[in-house]
Amino acid sequence: MENGAAPTAKPVIVAIDGPSGTGKSSTSKAVAAQLGLSYLDTGAQYRAITWWMVTNGIDLDDPTAVAAVAGKPEIVSGTDPAAPSITVDGVDVAGPIRTQEVTSKVSAVSAVPEVRTRITELQRSLAAGAEHGIVVEGRDIGTTVLPDADLKIFLTASPEARAARRSGELKNADLHATREALIKRDAADSSRKTSPLAKADDAVEVDTTELTLAQVIECVVALVEEKRAGK
Ligand code: DC
Repeated sequence: MENGAAPTAKPVIVAIDGPSGTGKSSTSKAVAAQLGLSYLDTGAQYRAITWWMVTNGIDLDDPTAVAAVAGKPEIVSGTDPAAPSITVDGVDVAGPIRTQEVTSKVSAVSAVPEVRTRITELQRSLAAGAEHGIVVEGRDIGTTVLPDADLKIFLTASPEARAARRSGELKNADLHATREALIKRDAADSSRKTSPLAKADDAVEVDTTELTLAQVIECVVALVEEKRAGK
């Protein structure tokens, strides 16, 4: 298979949604790199705005206070799958957005409608500007952000497999605690009123529990190629 998008290929928009620990980020980045597409990690954007709120002492238990400042930080995402980046007001926050503090607060911030409107606008404008197309990963991409995406994938995996993967990423993390935190965050993300984590009716569901990362990537690449070939 040839790497990179053929010069004449029509831009392709791929939405990859699912809960944490399903391999969304690794899969999305690899698929984008193999097919010469841009890549957007929308969770990183919600983490970035959460980091800014924490850093600026905003009361995250008060949705009105969060909504009032949702438009303030300037969030810039770099969409090269080989070197994705994220800055807030010019500060590189790729490291700080992965802390336990941000992880535990991001669901509350991302449930605020004004935050979602702001971040959704950024996501749509990046997708529209991607020359060869883009792989966008998140929770509501196929349902809300890009409902006309050419291909929608919904990744799932058992809670045990997801917790084991997350514990592997966070060195020395306690498996039971990781599983509990993950289930709690998914429940919050799935039950919020505005644009919850959900599978679009026309999404292809891929259960990754028994699959290696390489197998998931191969499966998604094949689905994109089928779409491109008009099958
Ligand atoms: O993918 P992640 O774990 O980095 O995402 C962090 C949080 O961001 C997740 O708990 C919910 C929120 N999120 C969202 O609400 N909508 C998205 N499209 C992506 C992430």
